[in-house]
Amino acid sequence: MSLISTFCKKGGVGKTTIISYLAHFYASQGKKVLVLSADDQNSVFKIFGKEDLVTERNDDYFEFLMAGYAEMGDVLLEVRENLYLIKTLNTDKLSLKLTLERAQEKVVNRILKEYAEYFDYIFFDFPPSSSRLTEVLLDASDHVIIVVGLDSLGLGGFFNTIQYFIDNDIDLSKIKYILPNGYAKNKRAPKLSLDKLQEEASEYTSSAIVLPAISDKSIIKNLQTEGISAFDKVELPPYDQKAKDQLEKELTHLFKSLNLD
Ligand SMILES: Nc1ncnc2c1ncn2[C@@H]1O[C@H](COP(=O)(O)OP(=O)(O)O)[C@@H](O)[C@H]1O
Ligand SMILES: [Mg+2]
Repeated sequence: MSLISTFCKKGGVGKTTIISYLAHFYASQGKKVLVLSADDQNSVFKIFGKEDLVTERNDDYFEFLMAGYAEMGDVLLEVRENLYLIKTLNTDKLSLKLTLERAQEKVVNRILKEYAEYFDYIFFDFPPSSSRLTEVLLDASDHVIIVVGLDSLGLGGFFNTIQYFIDNDIDLSKIKYILPNGYAKNKRAPKLSLDKLQEEASEYTSSAIVLPAISDKSIIKNLQTEGISAFDKVELPPYDQKAKDQLEKELTHLFKSLNLD
């Protein structure tokens, strides 16, 4: 059983996309997988075309479990076979509680421990703004994957992330992988950013592995508009089908190379 975070102190770099695909990859291999959305935008539901589960009911948020109004199973929302999501209502409020009451932190850790008995992998999806909830979940994580957008802003996000770990006394050696996202073959900027990232990573997080970059692919946006995951078996128009097959193949190759146990 492993607790895994994808993190970056910058929005729009692909954290939710990557964590969703990774979670679905493991689920499709028969593992039991849970994703806790620590982002109250709950965008992970969108990746699977299940936004309706966010709005359909208002008594099955993570907060209800924390408060003891819901049972462990009540807040699990199944989006694919073996793949469950938990939604949050208001992470700022929850974080404030975690800051004020030590007991709340113990509740989070007890909940995670109980889920760990049932799930093979538990993932945390974070908002770009960090708070006490972020710290608690990063502390609980066995492995952290830092997603870095391949442009100058993205690289700044990597620096801020390292700084954030240091400032909040979070173990930098939890960072197992650094995953560059948004590579474009014939453009100069992403290539320069990638070179720079490799340099910076070896300096600040020497034990982390910089993974091969994921390319900038319009099929990702297209699939997400329709609520189709990279690992869904669907039939698409020929051009999209080819792009999706290619994406699935690339991601499978990448994810198989990871060791997150
Ligand atoms: N490799 C990629 N190629 C093209 N678009 C991507 C790629 N990765 C992510 N995106 C798109 O970028 C946007 C932000 O991604 P998201 O996963 O929500 O980022 P975050 O969770 O870091 O805010 C989404 O519209 C997503 O479809
Ligand atoms: Mg996100």
